Amino acid sequence: MISRVQSGAVLGIDGYVVEVEVHLSPGLPGMSIVGLPDAAVKESSDRVAAAIRNTQLEFPVRRITVNLAPADIKKEGSAFDLPIALGILAADGIVKPDHLHRYLILGELSLDGRVKPIKGTLSIAAQAKKAGVEGILLPKANAAEAAVVSGLKVYPLETLPEALAFLNGELELEAVTKDPEGEYREHSAYDLDFTDVKGQYHVKRALEIAAAGGHNIILIGPPGSGKSMLAKRLPTILPPLTLDEAIETTKIHSVLGLMNNGKGLIATRPFRSPHHTISDAGLIGGGKVPMPGEVSLAHNGVLFLDELPEFKRNALEVLRQPMEDRQVCISRASGSLTFPTGFMLVAAMNPCPCGYRTDPKRECQCTPPQIKKYVSRISGPMMDRIDIHIQVPAVEYKDLASNTVGEPSSVLRQRVQKARVRQLQRFSSAKIFSNASMSSKQIKTHCPLDAASQKIMSTAIDKMGMSARAHDRILKVARTIADLAGDNAVAAEHIAEAIQYRTLDREGG
Ligand SMILES: Nc1ncnc2c1ncn2[C@@H]1O[C@H](COP(=O)(O)OP(=O)(O)OP(=O)(O)O)[C@@H](O)[C@H]1O
Ligand SMILES: [Mg+2]
Repeated sequence: MISRVQSGAVLGIDGYVVEVEVHLSPGLPGMSIVGLPDAAVKESSDRVAAAIRNTQLEFPVRRITVNLAPADIKKEGSAFDLPIALGILAADGIVKPDHLHRYLILGELSLDGRVKPIKGTLSIAAQAKKAGVEGILLPKANAAEAAVVSGLKVYPLETLPEALAFLNGELELEAVTKDPEGEYREHSAYDLDFTDVKGQYHVKRALEIAAAGGHNIILIGPPGSGKSMLAKRLPTILPPLTLDEAIETTKIHSVLGLMNNGKGLIATRPFRSPHHTISDAGLIGGGKVPMPGEVSLAHNGVLFLDELPEFKRNALEVLRQPMEDRQVCISRASGSLTFPTGFMLVAAMNPCPCGYRTDPKRECQCTPPQIKKYVSRISGPMMDRIDIHIQVPAVEYKDLASNTVGEPSSVLRQRVQKARVRQLQRFSSAKIFSNASMSSKQIKTHCPLDAASQKIMSTAIDKMGMSARAHDRILKVARTIADLAGDNAVAAEHIAEAIQYRTLDREGG
């Protein structure tokens, strides 16, 4: 009396197929689950028993052994409830075996037999397709996500009896179909737009440059000046996600169970803004069975660190490696997992502890040492990874009241995309995609300076007291400004503008 049901789970952000074997034997009634289950899987036995009894089905008074294969990977989560329940019913002869082998089955059960949403659907569905499975039975809330995988029949379920009737051929279910491209188009528009922001033209310009060259940026301004508002609109001017990027992004969000809204695909660039009290594991990823953190949720999008100096120094230190490598590797006794972390960093801070130093209408209470201490809370290596500093002044009433509408995001985005195309051509033989990723050697090759530019640069370094660290950053940003202008050579005007984006170097000394 053995039955086999195919199910699945995720490891990192990749799915794998799990075979659920159920054996009924005479002996003391009870259920044991083997095959490295975690606490949630072990609790499955209680949920399954209750769900079967509460749907007027007979729970076998037998010794039940459930084996989850492959046995060497730690299984976690509650998605095995439904396959285990159906496995028990199949071993007991209630579910006919004829159709069982055709489907991969996923779902958590509530005590009354309803099928509840699970995590990681897209990854598991993609793997099911690869493994040659014909169809997948899963909770209704996850159906849209699985249906993005083309060529897989996706049947949505609401209750355990429904699953039973379907497998026994007594109930027909309509397969959910989604055309990935259509799903992509449907969800690829942003709710926000740069036209919502009045004035602040120089900040929009800086954000356009940041988006064009992939430069990390910090916004410095008093409370209420619109830093958060501006940062939130950065994704709207980045190049649109490709379908592959959308699928990759969706997988990461799905693993954390952030997709249960009936939406099949995340087709806009994510914007994540973790609070400064976040734990290292929350930021980078971690846990007993490693889960992606905010840096991975921001993959292909923007990570916004509001009030940067408030973040623990350690949190900013641990950010360095994922920023550099665009992926993070988390090691555990059970093995190590890699999560992608290709995000753009936008940080925001007040100009001083009280916040009003650059506000012409308010008096600042802070002493110079206090200000210095505040700014120096951001470590040098962190500052090294931020190419653009921009002051965001409090917006003036005449700007707020004016009816002039600034450029919409779509116009900014077109210019960004043109500049990106130039970079892709330039770096076609290198392994990088944007000016921000240039090495010192690449900077030398791609940003040669004429005499006028050199003069401006030397004035900046010598007279304005800019640090050496500013030098390479200015060149990279100048390269992007030239790309936006469609110029092949970096010229004096590009350097002059780029120098303006180093305010913290100037003031911090
Ligand atoms: N340029 C602007 N155009 C239109 N509205 C603005 C502008 N700047 C600020 N606002 C309004 O002010 C509100 C506050 O802005 P926001 O929260 O972005 O400021 P902030 O700089 O992030 O402040 P804090 O330092 O307190 O976080 C916005 O929600 C918006 O309604
Ligand atoms: Mg804010």
